[in-house]
Amino acid sequence: MTAHGTFGSSSPTGSTADAMPPLVHAPAPPSSPLTGDDLLVSEPLPFERPIAAAATPPLGPTGRPLPQIPEPAPVSEHGNARVVSMCNQKGGVGKTTTTINLGASLAELGRKVLLVDFDPQGSLSVGLGLNPHEMDLTIYNLLMQRDVDIHDVIVPTVVEGMDLLPSNIDLSAAEVQLVHEVAREQTLQRVLGPAIAEYDVILIDCQPSLGLLTVNALTASDGVIVPLECEYFALRGVALLKTTIDKVRERLNPKLEIDGVLGTMYDGRTLHSREVMERLVQAWGDKVFHTVIRRTVKFSDSTVAGEPITTYAASSAGADSYRQLAKEVLARCLDG
Ligand SMILES: Nc1ncnc2c1ncn2[C@@H]1O[C@H](COP(=O)(O)OP(=O)(O)OP(=O)(O)O)[C@@H](O)[C@H]1O
Ligand SMILES: [Mg+2]
Repeated sequence: MTAHGTFGSSSPTGSTADAMPPLVHAPAPPSSPLTGDDLLVSEPLPFERPIAAAATPPLGPTGRPLPQIPEPAPVSEHGNARVVSMCNQKGGVGKTTTTINLGASLAELGRKVLLVDFDPQGSLSVGLGLNPHEMDLTIYNLLMQRDVDIHDVIVPTVVEGMDLLPSNIDLSAAEVQLVHEVAREQTLQRVLGPAIAEYDVILIDCQPSLGLLTVNALTASDGVIVPLECEYFALRGVALLKTTIDKVRERLNPKLEIDGVLGTMYDGRTLHSREVMERLVQAWGDKVFHTVIRRTVKFSDSTVAGEPITTYAASSAGADSYRQLAKEVLARCLDG
């Protein structure tokens, strides 16, 4: 064979092909052609039906089994509000959208809701149809003027059972002026006091920063919801947010809890969104809400219309997601 001959003749030891042991071929197995009888099966093969798998809940978009979220019980009286801040120093992650639509969904479930626009951009107020230049009194007046009553600043919204403390660019001055106040971090907590007895839940829409206004919001809150866009860079900066929450809990507000982390702008068709959800669950465990909010252009449309998606596109998937979130929030931290 050519290969062996070549190898043998070029051997560095000087041995020749003749000196090598002859190749021994393994004997071929005895031929056993199948007969016709072998192909006949006299008895049916034993066959067992697979045992029906125990009813396991399907996996949700967060990669965990989806629990049955109980239908919330109706409430007969209102008050003793839980104050919850929507907080993330990253911009455009869905804080304002979540405040409006979670609030509207809680109101649909019979809860009395107060939304607090605590962002000088005033997006929450605009998103509920208010004109920022036509506001007599805003949360700025409430924070800075001792003689202003919270009931004079609260305005009703298009959603029954949901009111708003509006804001506009004036609030940016408060951040500077508050620095000189005594107990400057507790100012929002002080002015919200009278509303606690009248509402079931107060949702504060924070600005995208961890400055004094956000520290005021965290100091006034029982819980924080962190909306996080399902996008890789959204995970950066979360450690700093967590440190800020821990510091406020240690120094100013021992009752402050993280109520949940909410994945927003989720696109289940992309591996990327699913991977980000996986990372979120690794980092925050059960704090991650089972409900995720999918990406849909309906949210921007409803902002332009100046109303929540739950009324603008009442039967849309986006509206349903926020209704689902409302039930999860009630089960997790409001009715529990
Ligand atoms: N699930 C979603 N799908 C698609 N668009 C969304 C979704 N949620 C919010 N948006 C849109 O993304 C933009 C930013 O959302 P939003 O204003 O709620 O973020 P934000 O965190 O409050 O921003 P900022 O930090 O500037 O206050 C808005 O135009 C909003 O309509
Ligand atoms: Mg906002």
